[in-house]
Amino acid sequence: MATRYSEQVQAFLARPHRLLVNGEWVPSSDTEEIPVLDPATGQIITRVAGAGARDVDLAVTAAHEALEDGPWRRMSARDRARLLQRLAGLVAEHAEEFAELEAIDAGKPLVAARSFDVEFSLRHLEYYAGWPTKIAGQTLPVAVPGVAVRTERVPVGVAGQIIPWNFPLLMAAWKLSPALAAGCTVVLKPSELTPLSALRLGELICEAGFPPGVVNIVPGTGPLAGAAIVEHPLVRKIAFTGSTAVGTSIAAAAAQTMKRVTLELGGKSPLLVFDDADQPAAVETALAAAFANAGQNCSAGSRLYVQEGVFEEFLTAFTARVTDFQLGHGLDEGVTMGPLISARQRDRVTGYITAAERSGARLLTGGADTPAGTDPAGFFVRPTVVTDVPQDAPIVQQEVFGPVVVALPFTDEADALAKADDTVYGLAAGVCTRDIGRANRVTARLRAGSVYVNTYGHSDAAAPYGGFKQSGLGRELGAENLDAYLETRTVWTSLS
Ligand code: NAI
Ligand code: MG
Repeated sequence: MATRYSEQVQAFLARPHRLLVNGEWVPSSDTEEIPVLDPATGQIITRVAGAGARDVDLAVTAAHEALEDGPWRRMSARDRARLLQRLAGLVAEHAEEFAELEAIDAGKPLVAARSFDVEFSLRHLEYYAGWPTKIAGQTLPVAVPGVAVRTERVPVGVAGQIIPWNFPLLMAAWKLSPALAAGCTVVLKPSELTPLSALRLGELICEAGFPPGVVNIVPGTGPLAGAAIVEHPLVRKIAFTGSTAVGTSIAAAAAQTMKRVTLELGGKSPLLVFDDADQPAAVETALAAAFANAGQNCSAGSRLYVQEGVFEEFLTAFTARVTDFQLGHGLDEGVTMGPLISARQRDRVTGYITAAERSGARLLTGGADTPAGTDPAGFFVRPTVVTDVPQDAPIVQQEVFGPVVVALPFTDEADALAKADDTVYGLAAGVCTRDIGRANRVTARLRAGSVYVNTYGHSDAAAPYGGFKQSGLGRELGAENLDAYLETRTVWTSLS
């Protein structure tokens, strides 16, 4: 197996994988090593040090000192921008290596890792590299005589960033870029399931010349390393992406020390296909919405609502396209869908399929059995289309986070909107229609942070991203994300 890997990746896998604390790679002080699996084969490809509370304390202390006393604090905005640019350049130089690491650690088709994960990581770094020199306060026309009043925009402090396994490098770049642009220092915890690309990024962060302690990287489990970050009194801000259950507990814990919090949580996003839509185009939109990244995507369009007159016809065309996916190892030619991240995630997902079948659902394609032609030791699930389920079924209400889409009919606009809104989530939503009036009416009523018209699933460094309802708190990306890493200081100066 190892011989399939490029020389760079083999060399990286063979290096010891430690924690990045204060600019040095240090062993973990009190925890076991974490095995790193290739989810397409179930094989252990390497091991990484797992951080415990003591390691997190060292990392947070380093980040705190780097913020208070180090060269980072005195660095000009221009030099901070240059460091981010230099990092982007190094990631671009190593793009192929990153794509391969994502393919083997997260189970992604190489083409997708290259064109999405690595490409968008670069875009985030480049976009925020432009920001340090544009962050500015204001002078204010207050009614008080004899004073000058101005605001300063200052870094909020040490940022604790906890990221998931579905887009490991992308989430690291997505979280690090705005924090560093704002002048914060960071303790980043990658998911214990996918630590490799963040560790490689850490090597490039050192190479780029970021001062020690500005970025600390501590792979480890949620309950140990994650919780220690959330509880640490010197951490002033938490940025989390993951499940709504963990996000809820993080918000509660962070409130104890009044940490600023942004949360990007789950979704159960609807795509509404009206009978006047361009049907073949809507089929492709629905396909990408539901199955990108094998459905392990917080904004996945996992509820497909189709207007009743075209429902059966649409589903026939859609199902035919779903069977086109080529499942397999991400490094194999022609593969368009990889495995799920873990045996646990596979079992969760197939559990939803089995439960729906048991309560009378109809499977248009797919199922809970191991897909033909895939490694049975890998964590593959067949792309699955489920229908004939009640709106209150778990598979309609809960985030499945796998290649499973529920297709249900609706009657009219009001019915479509009522069904779209009928979950606790509000991350994304889409509408396919040729009627501009309808597109605008429906868009204005969808309770979702990202709304797509005749397309689905885009994100961009310049475009705010986040959830309504229980899909999260605050916005990431765009200029808004900088606010999450800045405090405003209002300075009053007597003119006498
Ligand atoms: P998770 O929410 O447990 O993991 C996400 C991150 O949070 C990981 O880095 C994990 O180590 C950390 N974490 C876990 N418990 C923590 C705690 N108590 N304190 C601090 N950090 C903690 O997600 P998991 O269990 O891997 O997946 C379960 C479900 O969560 C998925 O099926 C999916 O529905 C959802 N999910 C949503 C994601 C999204 O992008 N919105 C990403 C990953 C999972
Ligand atoms: Mg892995």
